[in-house]
Amino acid sequence: MKAASITDYRELARRRLPHFLFEYIDGGSYAETTLARNIADLKDIALRQRVLRDVSAIDLSVELFGRKQAMPVALGPIGLAGLTARRGEVQAARAANAAGVPFSLSTVSACPIAEVARGVDRPFWFQLYMIRDRAFMADLLAKAAEAKCSALIFTVDMPVPGARYRDIRSGLAGAPGFAGQARRLMQALARPGWAYDVGLRGRPHVLGNVLPVLNGRTGMEDYFAWMRANFDPRVTWKDLEWVRQKWPGPLILKGVLDPDDARSAADLGADGLIVSNHGGRQLDGVLSGARALPPIADAVGDRLTVLADGGVRSGLDVVRLLALGARGVMLGRAWAFALGAGGQAAVSHMLRLIEAEMRVAMALTGVTGIGAIDRTSLAGYSAASNAG
Ligand SMILES: Cc1cc2nc3c(=O)[nH]c(=O)nc-3n(C[C@H](O)[C@H](O)[C@H](O)COP(=O)(O)O)c2cc1C
Repeated sequence: MKAASITDYRELARRRLPHFLFEYIDGGSYAETTLARNIADLKDIALRQRVLRDVSAIDLSVELFGRKQAMPVALGPIGLAGLTARRGEVQAARAANAAGVPFSLSTVSACPIAEVARGVDRPFWFQLYMIRDRAFMADLLAKAAEAKCSALIFTVDMPVPGARYRDIRSGLAGAPGFAGQARRLMQALARPGWAYDVGLRGRPHVLGNVLPVLNGRTGMEDYFAWMRANFDPRVTWKDLEWVRQKWPGPLILKGVLDPDDARSAADLGADGLIVSNHGGRQLDGVLSGARALPPIADAVGDRLTVLADGGVRSGLDVVRLLALGARGVMLGRAWAFALGAGGQAAVSHMLRLIEAEMRVAMALTGVTGIGAIDRTSLAGYSAASNAG
């Protein structure tokens, strides 16, 4: 099958990846209500078709955080994405690099910061989780600065992890010891292409950035144990001040769903925020990205750069979020599926798909530049119906 859309890449990833890995990427938390809402609410937003305007020259470029980029999208942070392809984060970063859009490296990536930095010639973004050990955090920030990361994403919607039932059912989580390993091994062997290319030749460490503190314990269950023990539930706005002091460059708060929190982020000097519910993987039942975005954009859009994510599966979805007030859109599963399906080439192709779809959406809504996309690009949009 040749992928014509991101949905196709999801199917190709399902066929290529071991069951536990596909389920890990595809799944959400609890009943997956929010995961479904992210996708459904975006689809529900009707674009307003306009005709007979000269749309022969469409320009997708934007400037975000002082840097020009080819289009208003970025690859968002996806933990363990690097396990879906050989040295996966390096491949994805290269694809983003070539397409002229930012790549974000998760704290819990398979490839460490320095390895990704060696693979690209343009700066990428680094994503930080608040970890109990502040010295370790300071060290990670120093490594990100050394790698010339051009922005820091500080993710704040994971003081505790949401329960992901699919990970338990697949044997990824809660299956310690030999029995768990054997189960995952069987699933890996059922995908020989992945087992050879990634498992054997890729020699992946589960967590490249935290390897120094795992004390040689690098199994899948060690990853979850480390997260449980080290993610800091005591984190408050004071810690944002701490991060702000340590990171002089652009600072983006990720995981904001409430306008009051967005105002606090602006007050404390964040340069940007990402309206996000973590792809429906944290508190199930919260608003979709599309519904949470408009009141936040209205509240702080003139004070910081508002980005958004959640359920983006096409360039049309990107245009929808831009129309609702986002200045840029983060891709999540979209790139993880592509990477799992076909590595760097597939991520590059996925980005070309997004670009082509955006061009068509812009042509048929009658705009030629990103700045012209706003709520007038939507049909029958009413702020009240979307205020949540
Ligand atoms: C498998 C997976 C791992 C993720 N890991 C992280 C992470 O390490 N850090 C983070 O800030 N967000 C993480 N996220 C959330 C994404 O950055 C993003 O908010 C979400 O995927 C957007 O929803 P979408 O995938 O439906 O587009 C993860 C999401 C998925 C699906």
